[in-house]
Amino acid sequence: NDERTFVMAKPDAVQRGLVGTIISRLEERGLKLAGAKFMQIDEELANQHYAEHQDKPFFDELVAFITSGPVMAMVWEGADATRQVRQMMGATDPKEAQPGTIRGDFGLDLGQNIIHGSDHEDPGANEREIDLFFDEEELVDYERSD
Ligand code: CMP
Repeated sequence: NDERTFVMAKPDAVQRGLVGTIISRLEERGLKLAGAKFMQIDEELANQHYAEHQDKPFFDELVAFITSGPVMAMVWEGADATRQVRQMMGATDPKEAQPGTIRGDFGLDLGQNIIHGSDHEDPGANEREIDLFFDEEELVDYERSD
């Protein structure tokens, strides 16, 4: 049951040179890169992507941060991909994230937490986020070996 999930290396990951490490970890796990876009998120896209958080006290901070510099937006594909990526990311707050996870190895800051992955507990979040960031023709279908 292969599925696609949306993953984003956030502006802090780009600034700190962690994009390659993030890609490597997902590649080595056996997930398949289906699309990637190095891009600057504008205010409108940030508002759409974080719509569910619009009433939170940290919403303005969140939008300011995610638009503060380029991100690497990606689509990764594989068995149970959404939940597997979330596990590899670790807890939202890097201070709570287990060592061995991406946040647990590279972060301490809740706001600047390196990576985003679609919520596996929100059905359809993966497809919704993929649609927001990518046109279907930007996603590539190919075989890779494990
Ligand atoms: P993410 O799960 O990618 O999307 C929502 C983000 O909101 C989350 O990552 C955190 O980076 C951020 N966030 C959550 N709680 C707070 C908070 N209390 N203060 C600032 N940022 C937060």
